[in-house]
Amino acid sequence: MVCLGNICRSPLAEGILRHKIEKKNLPVKVNSCGTAGYHVGDFADPRSTEVAHKNNIDLSGHIGKQFSVSDFDTYDLIYAMDGNNYRDILNQARNKNDEAKVKLLMNEVLPNENVDIPDPYYGGSNGFDNVFKMIDQACDRIIEKLES
Ligand code: 4NP
Repeated sequence: MVCLGNICRSPLAEGILRHKIEKKNLPVKVNSCGTAGYHVGDFADPRSTEVAHKNNIDLSGHIGKQFSVSDFDTYDLIYAMDGNNYRDILNQARNKNDEAKVKLLMNEVLPNENVDIPDPYYGGSNGFDNVFKMIDQACDRIIEKLES
């Protein structure tokens, strides 16, 4: 799961997907990072931690990380939260195999519509509730695909 700073959206996406994967006992590894390095080593934004906590998801162990080209070797699927993240990752792809791993998260819910998960960093906390709902829906679709 990849966003810009790896403190708001992608830590939530990591926590939500891991929560669903653990409930279903699926053998899938989930991680998150940012395309930018400003928040490497930081905890998740308190507004993400709060909305996660309301939904029984614990982000307290989150530490910010930055995307690295080696992530193409470690992961089968790389989900970008918005179009900028998507293009930033795609620009680092070394070959067609890397490129094929990169998806826009909301296309799991609305295929080919290229809807962004909006960056909630500069907004209020209701932006985080909206982000939670969008990511939660997309993660349900990912689980359905993993199970099919
Ligand atoms: P995120 O949100 O990409 O969802 O983690 C942001 C976090 C920090 C910044 C921008 C977006 N920032 O500019 O520091």
